[in-house]
Amino acid sequence: MSFPSSFLDEIRSRVVLRELIGRHVKLIRKGHEYSGLCPFHNEKTPSFTVSEEKGFFHCFGCGAHGDAIGYVMRFENLTFPEAVKRLAQEIGISVPNVSPEELKSEKIRSSLYDVMEKACHFFEKSLKSPQGANALKYLRGRGLDDDDISRFRLGYAPESRNILKQALISASVSESLLIDSGLLIKLENRGMSYERFRNRVIFPISDQGSRIIGFGGRALGDVQPKYLNSPDTALFQKGSILYNIKTGRSASVAAGRVIVVEGYMDVIALARAGIKEAVATLGTALSERQLALLWKIEPEPVLCFDGDNAGVLAAYRAAERALPLLQPGKSLRFIFLPSGEDPDTLLKSAGRDAMEEILGNASTLSQVIWNMEAAQQTLDTPERLAGFEHRLEKHARSIVDKKVQYQYRISFRAKLSQMTSKMFSQKSLRGANSNQQSGATNFTYKARNPPETLAKRREEAVLATVIRQPALLDGYAEAIGKLEFSDPELNRVRQEILTFYASSPDLDRKMLMEHLRLCGFNSTTGVILFADTLIKPGQSEIQMVDGTVMTEMAQLRVMLSELIQGARLEEAQRRYEADPNDENLARLLECKKVTMDSYRGNI
Ligand code: UTP
Ligand code: MN
Repeated sequence: MSFPSSFLDEIRSRVVLRELIGRHVKLIRKGHEYSGLCPFHNEKTPSFTVSEEKGFFHCFGCGAHGDAIGYVMRFENLTFPEAVKRLAQEIGISVPNVSPEELKSEKIRSSLYDVMEKACHFFEKSLKSPQGANALKYLRGRGLDDDDISRFRLGYAPESRNILKQALISASVSESLLIDSGLLIKLENRGMSYERFRNRVIFPISDQGSRIIGFGGRALGDVQPKYLNSPDTALFQKGSILYNIKTGRSASVAAGRVIVVEGYMDVIALARAGIKEAVATLGTALSERQLALLWKIEPEPVLCFDGDNAGVLAAYRAAERALPLLQPGKSLRFIFLPSGEDPDTLLKSAGRDAMEEILGNASTLSQVIWNMEAAQQTLDTPERLAGFEHRLEKHARSIVDKKVQYQYRISFRAKLSQMTSKMFSQKSLRGANSNQQSGATNFTYKARNPPETLAKRREEAVLATVIRQPALLDGYAEAIGKLEFSDPELNRVRQEILTFYASSPDLDRKMLMEHLRLCGFNSTTGVILFADTLIKPGQSEIQMVDGTVMTEMAQLRVMLSELIQGARLEEAQRRYEADPNDENLARLLECKKVTMDSYRGNI
């Protein structure tokens, strides 16, 4: 029985190898891998390793080697189909009924691999034949030596409509298979099939197992398009492949990084400079599938962009697209090359050290998002700052993973509040200096010590109460949510507490304080708690009756009703002032009466 390869891939990607093997072998983490005593031979010191990233186990003692399916086959002494069924059952996916059509398409796939390999060989040979002299000269001119050419299996497609076709047909490959492979083009009902790649340098593209699945062909000279790639076929889907994936992936283990560039030549130039852990997207924007593939290799792939406008915009787009997909620990980093350069040209003009220096200064994804929004306008007014905050918040909310989203939100907020407090302290410093020059020091003094309002003290009291006793939020979050505090900073703290409460219902004081600290509200929280309007009679209008200790809940209720009442009174006053008719006067008097009553009642 044969299984579709997509089904086998799903099994391999869903099984957690260290858990599967960990049932029989005690595994100890060692860097990127796990090691333990080999279950397949007797040994006293561990020579058995498991690599989750590569999806393989390997024993340096007895040479046992394989993936999850291979492990089950060996350990349980099962056949391949038996092991597949066992694993499928365990992870809860059903074994597909393989239809005759699917079987046929599997067969076609495997013959296509064969065709691609034969074609690759043909192109390699052509490059070394007299016909390929020009192409070879071109590659040499770009700094490649024989070793690069054979490592990357570079080739040449001669200037002909049927030379490859003839060669492969005489090696008993059918014309229809050549069409399915994308090597031949046949227009419907029109004439003979002809070759896609003509007079081009050929860059073979392989899958993770080194099997050739497509080609890229570069024009020699000024022909459009500069690069022509294989069309999508049963083997080749542009959005899910990365050039140099096999070598790039293995090299990334030792390098501890993987670099994503745009072009074939960039990968090759980097490899020539000793940076082998690079893959390319073939000029298209990074797709979701490519990103998933990269995250299996490294938690933070480094994307490389040209530092010109178009490159920066492309980086922004990549950053925005990655946000919803972020997972704890998984992100992207970004580097920007000098304007107009790609890695190939940069290495030629400035060398490896320059490239390494740029790599060493990669930006994080959150920095790129921040910069993208900060670059839109000068952030010099409260409105613009609020707009900026709003846009950052929107980006953060596009992150689906709740933990990552939360971290983004608090880090943006902390950064924003750091930025604004810096701005204001700079402003007040400037203000103080100019005031000193003009002798008007009084003004600064006043501005720094605004008269405290009754509302503000009440607002502080409400916040102090819920910070001390977050459990009270269970009963009062809604009421507090309906209030708009008059003091903007206190209002932000209020909103922050409510948002945090909504996402963590079991909030305790410590968590809340820590959260407020991370959001940049440390000093405000300090002021709120220090003002401590609750327990120090005389400092607040809200005093306890004859020293009787009111429960915090009762205090909160009183304070809230006072705040609400205060807002109503203000509103009534505004209305009366705007239109002093009898009705508005009556409402104002009524409000004043209620306020006085509740005020008296609390003294
Ligand atoms: P670039 O235009 O940046 O080319 O395209 P490059 O890699 O610097 O090429 P050289 O150095 O002039 O040889 C980057 C990548 O975009 C894809 C190719 O994969 C290319 O490597 N591309 C570009 C195409 O698929 N078609 C094109 O016409 C151009
Ligand atoms: Mn280039």
